[in-house]
Amino acid sequence: METKRIYIDSQTPEPEYIEEAAKLIQKGQLVAFPTETVYGLGANALDAHACAEIFKVKGRPQDNPLIVHVSNFDMVRSVTEDWNEQAKRCAEAFWPGPLTLVLPKTAFIPDTVSAGLGSIGIRMPSHPVALSLIEKAGVPIAAPSANLSGKPSPTNGIHVWKDLQGRIPLVLDGGACNVGVESTVLDLTGKVPMILRPGGITKERLEEVLGEVKVDHPSENQAPKAPGMKYRHYAPTGELYLLIGEREKILSRMTEAIQKAHSRLRKVGILCTLESASELHSQLPDLLFVLGSEKRPEEVAASLYEGLRLCDEQGIDVILAEGVSKNGLGFAIMNRLEKASGQKILYL
Ligand code: TXA
Ligand code: MG
Repeated sequence: METKRIYIDSQTPEPEYIEEAAKLIQKGQLVAFPTETVYGLGANALDAHACAEIFKVKGRPQDNPLIVHVSNFDMVRSVTEDWNEQAKRCAEAFWPGPLTLVLPKTAFIPDTVSAGLGSIGIRMPSHPVALSLIEKAGVPIAAPSANLSGKPSPTNGIHVWKDLQGRIPLVLDGGACNVGVESTVLDLTGKVPMILRPGGITKERLEEVLGEVKVDHPSENQAPKAPGMKYRHYAPTGELYLLIGEREKILSRMTEAIQKAHSRLRKVGILCTLESASELHSQLPDLLFVLGSEKRPEEVAASLYEGLRLCDEQGIDVILAEGVSKNGLGFAIMNRLEKASGQKILYL
């Protein structure tokens, strides 16, 4: 299949491009589009056949449900009948935006979308392209991140192009995504709201609106409540080690590791904060990627997947990533880095 790539204005999307994309969605085809978090691979959420195609194209495990994206509250009511007080408060505070609410689903939503669960993840994205596409299509759009399963999520049109070119009819390329990590998935089906996946809206901000909020911490013999969280997502091909602790110790361990890897003719990539960069630069790694300042976690979040993808593109064998504080957005950043490392974490 030939894939068309349309460069679209991310602030004021051209109506003719939105119409072209919306028609494909209505015909049961797939369209990749930007959201404020990461790019989504969208299909009509009410069309089981179209949604099944998403799983095929991504190579996504069948048991991993899709998030349904809406542009107005009539759509919300068509996908859940249980729009409770907590959901209303969350929507008022954080929608449109990077928050997915898990609620009981209606019969309109095919089992393919919910992966057989009785609940559905619902999100109203704030990206103008995403919102106008859903509105024009006139149906809720089911969309996982627009990467091949297991790869880091795409935060730029070029990432989608590299992963899905030849597999889908259209990519709307609106440039870089602002947030850079996926939405927070918040389960509102229980008594106390529970974060199933940390993301763009922090626990602290949710607590301001909801009071007590729990975090799902699956143990070894217990599956995570968001099926997708059990997979080793976000992983580059190179072996990633996550280093956590005092800066001095991290710097000296990285320096040693660079020398050791080079003596074995392996390429080393460093993902670090601005504050550590000059020290590590002088150690001559094959790639030095500055994630951003440790004082601005939003910068780190926005560049993280770009850094992971760059390591792959440059054939990096060993990736050393500097951990950041788990406060605020740092919690989501560290969750992704831990997963990317396959739990190869060094506490220094
Ligand atoms: O920011 C985002 O959320 C992006 C953009 C495109 O909106 N989408 C995204 O989708 O990250 P995906 O499919 O890559 O991740 C969805 C996550 C998975 O971990 C999935 O298991 C979980 O949300 N999820 C979806 N529906 C659920 C449900 N009903 N119950 C529990 N977890 C659910
Ligand atoms: Mg994903």
